[in-house]
Amino acid sequence: MARGAAARPGAVTVGVGVDMGATWLRAAAVDLRAGRLRGPRLEIRTPSPSTPETVTWEIGRLVAEVAAATSSTLAAPLGIGVPTPVVGGRTMTAANIDHAWIGYHAVERISASLGRPVTVVNDADAAGVAEMRFGAGAGHRGVAMIVTLGTGIGTALFVEGRLVPNLELGHLELGGEDAEHRAAASAKSRRQLGWTAWAADLDAYLRHLDRLIWPDLFILGGGISRQAEKFIPLLTVRAPVVPARLRNDAGIIGAALVAAERT
Ligand code: BGC
Repeated sequence: MARGAAARPGAVTVGVGVDMGATWLRAAAVDLRAGRLRGPRLEIRTPSPSTPETVTWEIGRLVAEVAAATSSTLAAPLGIGVPTPVVGGRTMTAANIDHAWIGYHAVERISASLGRPVTVVNDADAAGVAEMRFGAGAGHRGVAMIVTLGTGIGTALFVEGRLVPNLELGHLELGGEDAEHRAAASAKSRRQLGWTAWAADLDAYLRHLDRLIWPDLFILGGGISRQAEKFIPLLTVRAPVVPARLRNDAGIIGAALVAAERT
């Protein structure tokens, strides 16, 4: 769907997106043509323990609230972004969530619990789809890499606008540890770093990615991208770096877009 494209008669124009993070669980109705939220963004802390059952229960509650706040979402495509690669409908790893997600038949089980079809997609892939379609990457050709900075680091690679799914480059080794432990947004607060010290680690990470992938553009997402002016000017990586535009909505919007396209 191109930006601002007219809807085909009968085309689905509203979806529901859920963004499951290690820390926050967010949901909203999404205007699929405009690439923006179509109602309030509902947000709660991800339950602890974050087992598939507790999270699914909360998703059910949020989605019902979204439906109550916005008409016409009951039969809308429902997409759920999750912080793990998703292969054949199964969630594969659990870096920052309960280990019961490893090998979990997420699509099958969540659909059965909620009594409606769902699409489950990696959270960074979802955010990337939204940014490439409607945000900082709109109209970009060539190789673009989205890096989401939150509790962990999510990565999504787009080649000529097409996603290479489930890229887990937040787990590259950096300074002898998992890169996300040093350069995610959560690492800044956990290690009590100021902007300069944290930006130096982020820069080292991006330079490492750059030497392996040579993208034309880096798009940095996650809530911290709201303060991009505090750290993007400190980066020295070769490829241009821009902040994501859809910020915390990107994961929700992208999950709904992917669900609409797969339905
Ligand atoms: C997970 C990725 C996820 C990223 C951001 C990482 O720990 O392995 O799948 O995209 O966190 O949530």
